[in-house]
Amino acid sequence: MLRVVVMVSGGGTNLQAVLDAVKDGKITNAKIVGVISNRADAYALTRAERAEIPAVCISRKDYAQREDFDRALLEAVDSFAPDLVVLAGFLVILPELLVKRYKNRMINIHPALLPSFGGKGYYGLKVHEEVLAHGCKVTGATVHFVDEGCDSGPILLQRAVEVKQGDTPEVLQRRVMEEAEWKILPQAIDLIANGKVIFKEGCVFAQES
Ligand code: GRF
Repeated sequence: MLRVVVMVSGGGTNLQAVLDAVKDGKITNAKIVGVISNRADAYALTRAERAEIPAVCISRKDYAQREDFDRALLEAVDSFAPDLVVLAGFLVILPELLVKRYKNRMINIHPALLPSFGGKGYYGLKVHEEVLAHGCKVTGATVHFVDEGCDSGPILLQRAVEVKQGDTPEVLQRRVMEEAEWKILPQAIDLIANGKVIFKEGCVFAQES
């Protein structure tokens, strides 16, 4: 059983997609053992509670120094002894040690087709605003492994989503979630849990079944 920790900052719709996929048997060989939020008011915490998953909040506000917060975050992750850490809308710059310790064992969901519309400042609605400002006809979502950079680690899965005329950032964000994020994040966890991910020459591939 792959032990999975999910890190969140907001509504937690991606967390919900993962919880539902475990319940429905779309993710096998994996157990969500913990949820970590950096915001006490994140609705994701309520979702975790409803699913009876242990959840903790580690807020930057509770620590005078950034390094104390970093240490607490690392301890919280370690305390669940995870095999996989899933960043599902976790809006915190990760401590270097955390990234190093969970190298090849940490994935992130990004609401665009990386390497486009990724990197510093590209989060939330901003991503979709930029996609629309460029007149893109296609966008999507990406699941990638996390490395020391920002949105730069090896890509595991991507799914394209059509941009429609008249889209607002909010409408596009919703479509990207429904048609891409909520599908490829559970799929990625299932692939990892079932040993179907291959690392080769700095890239990652999903084994065809
Ligand atoms: C999603 O768009 C995800 O791609 C991004 O943050 C958002 C999180 O939404 N990284 P939710 O908290 O899962 O609803």
